[in-house]
Amino acid sequence: MPHTFVIFGASGDLTSRKLIPALYNLRRKGRLPEDTKVVGVSRTAFTHEEWRASLAETTAKFAGENFDPEVWQAFAENVFYQPGDIGSSDDFVKLKGFLNELEAGQDSIRVYYLSTAPQFYGPAVEQLGAAGMAGETNDCSRRVVIEKPFGTDLATAQELNEVVHRSFDERQVYRIDHYLGKETVQNLMVLRFANTIFEPIWNRNYIDHVQITVAEEVEVGKRAGYYDHAGVVRDMIQNHLLQLLMITAMEAPVRYAADPVRDEKVKVLQAVKPMQGDDFRRDTFRGQYRGYTGHDGVDARSRTATFAALKLCIHNWRWQGVPFYLRSGKAMSCRTTQIVIQFRQPPHMLFNDGPRSVTDANRLVIQVQPNEGIQLHFETKVPDAGMKMRQTDLDFNYQREFKGRSMPEAYERLLLDAIEGDASLFARADEVEAAWKICDPILQAWQSGDKPTLYMYDPGFWGPQECTEWMSAQGRNWFDICPVLH
Ligand code: BG6
Repeated sequence: MPHTFVIFGASGDLTSRKLIPALYNLRRKGRLPEDTKVVGVSRTAFTHEEWRASLAETTAKFAGENFDPEVWQAFAENVFYQPGDIGSSDDFVKLKGFLNELEAGQDSIRVYYLSTAPQFYGPAVEQLGAAGMAGETNDCSRRVVIEKPFGTDLATAQELNEVVHRSFDERQVYRIDHYLGKETVQNLMVLRFANTIFEPIWNRNYIDHVQITVAEEVEVGKRAGYYDHAGVVRDMIQNHLLQLLMITAMEAPVRYAADPVRDEKVKVLQAVKPMQGDDFRRDTFRGQYRGYTGHDGVDARSRTATFAALKLCIHNWRWQGVPFYLRSGKAMSCRTTQIVIQFRQPPHMLFNDGPRSVTDANRLVIQVQPNEGIQLHFETKVPDAGMKMRQTDLDFNYQREFKGRSMPEAYERLLLDAIEGDASLFARADEVEAAWKICDPILQAWQSGDKPTLYMYDPGFWGPQECTEWMSAQGRNWFDICPVLH
């Protein structure tokens, strides 16, 4: 069956920066089904040729050395443009006619990608439904991909889910979180479920705590206007960090397929008790980098958090009593996403020199990005020095191990999965709502009269100093490690 990939919001930044380069790269690698047509829709009045020319320029820039004019030419022949306004039902009728003509009336698989501003997700889905473009009930040959943010709180996410479900069955819906497209995030499932050595120790009996850090060196930049309304919890924690938490903590699914995987993921979130009362002061931490309020688009008195740290507890058999620390911020020391599994100390110390505190004990560090890899830290005897010990590590590094294979962009995998109809790496309705159920009370508490202090930090640090003290007071340390780039 031929494939048609329709992008709403075609003149936007995401389309030229990520979507088209990803589709082009898939074609270059021979993975995009040959018969795939790409159709851009937005209000701008481009002709097909004008849109192709503008994409050629941006793709050459973003694909860099992978840009091959010949491959582009072949790809661009299947790229089309149809002007249209999401508010206009007539435009949807025209779009429908255009797509039918393009597909020559044949049965086809269509992916509608909503890369518009979030307020248009609902209206676009409604228009697709009203124009009879969502297919028959349960028709999985019609799919809709929805970008983040999926709502701004639980109520708006539920409303959007309701709107979406009026036109599309859940099996037709692909809510994107680009962290799930990252190789190292998928490898976390492989690490856990394709090996036997980790599973027996992956629980409260052996693990003291888990740290999930997504640090960014960049400040808010051009997106300041959006960011000032969102803040770090909506922008990063509700989606990317909770996805990492779910994959780290989930039980093994019965098989690798969309629903079994997502069934297990959502159970993790359901086991996180939403915070209340004193929890916000004790278990949440918020910060803002100095200079943030000076950005264009940011309210001069803004109290938006650009940094947050949370201590979440998963109340289930595996994780009872094991804190999961989540931390994310802008304007931090370096760009790094890492998951640290901190094991417990040995039950009995034979050597004076042995791990003295939990932070000296065994540790598994999953470097999600950059410098992708995994390190296992353990104690080793220093030669010819009595029983003196030192921490050493086993170090797996993607670049070293898979020479000549570059890491694909997260969007490549996700777009291909949407085209091929595999929703395993997309968020389900209940998953998104469960994530909001964890974040909503925190956001509300941070707005309330009794909110925890907003600590300031200088750009280029690991967040506020007070956050380091907050962690030390719990007998633990953050692992503030900037990756060494090869
Ligand atoms: C986006 C956030 O979802 O993820 C951005 O809106 C953030 O604020 C980005 O910079 C980080 O993605 P990555 O892949 O660079 O870690």
